[in-house]
Amino acid sequence: MSEKKIIAVVGATGAQGGGLVRAIAADPDGEFTARAITRDPSSDKAKELAALGAEVVAGDVDDADSLRRAFEGAHGVYCVTFFWAHFSPEKELEQARAMAQAAKDAGVHHVIWSTLEDTRRHVPLSDDRMPTLQGKYKVPHFDAKGEADAIFKELGVPTTYLLTSFYWDNFISFGMGPARGADGTLSITLPMDDKKLPGIAAEDIGRAALGIFKSGDELLGKHVGIAGEHLSGDEMAAVFSEVLGEDVRYNAVDPATYRGFGFPGSDDLGNMFQYKCDFESEFRAARPVDGTRALNPKVQTFKEWAKENKEKIPVPGK
Ligand SMILES: NC(=O)c1ccc[n+]([C@@H]2O[C@H](COP(=O)([O-])OP(=O)(O)OC[C@H]3O[C@@H](n4cnc5c(N)ncnc54)[C@H](OP(=O)(O)O)[C@@H]3O)[C@@H](O)[C@H]2O)c1
Repeated sequence: MSEKKIIAVVGATGAQGGGLVRAIAADPDGEFTARAITRDPSSDKAKELAALGAEVVAGDVDDADSLRRAFEGAHGVYCVTFFWAHFSPEKELEQARAMAQAAKDAGVHHVIWSTLEDTRRHVPLSDDRMPTLQGKYKVPHFDAKGEADAIFKELGVPTTYLLTSFYWDNFISFGMGPARGADGTLSITLPMDDKKLPGIAAEDIGRAALGIFKSGDELLGKHVGIAGEHLSGDEMAAVFSEVLGEDVRYNAVDPATYRGFGFPGSDDLGNMFQYKCDFESEFRAARPVDGTRALNPKVQTFKEWAKENKEKIPVPGK
């Protein structure tokens, strides 16, 4: 029997990387084996991955030597950064460079870089439709990822650039779930006007990534966007009403109001949603649902995701 090819997965105990490790473990073709990279191999989450058959190794994206060791002998590497852990685009750029360099040094055949658009290509800093944040960004958690694409290219690392979408799981774990207003009605609040938001179940990102690794060299050098469905606020609210068995409305606010909500990152997210509205056609076209299904035949619709996660969706007063 031939040796399985190793896919080293950064962020393996998290949403994107965890999905990939589980997808590799569940793949009946068994072409790959997962190497789960974590800062703490003794954690419960790391042990769960080991129980699925993954090799668990220590690694930190802030420690170049640990990355080199973790990538050694790997056929593929899944690279992701963790903006919401530090809110620093500069840190993301440094970590992307460290991962790209380590992948080059290890002679990795296929890197997937989990990226997003550099919104400044469409909204230069001089464009005052939205405020400039942290001195030189419009959407900090997008812009540095997009800027980092050039690092993988410059270092000559064979890379597929994966454009992810809004996780529907944000309705569970990012405080975006239905809230009850003074009149007792539930609503979801987004500054998306009547535009459609490409979204995805976080677990489906890893399954699509496995599809990319399985496609061999075909998608090297390409940007590949993924989404489970593109839905308006009204359409998502209608699904929540049906699945939760209680009327949920869509509360459309303008981006300036959203920026002013004052939670950490509300300005970044307000700009992000405004970008997704103002450039709706390009943003959606970059994330085709049929292309996603070709990579991940199990990709869920919003209703499937909501039904599956019904008990986890926080509903105030229930
Ligand atoms: N939320 C969304 O809708 C959305 C949509 C598109 C893209 N994104 C992007 O997704 C990225 C985060 O990915 P995710 O959601 O998969 O992350 P996540 O679920 O928050 O998981 C992060 C994992 O990464 C590990 N980690 C954190 N710091 C690390 C470090 N210094 N070195 C090595 N590992 C580290 C942690 O594992 P250990 O503790 O085990 O080391 C943690 O389990 C963000 O940059 C965000 O902008 C989010």
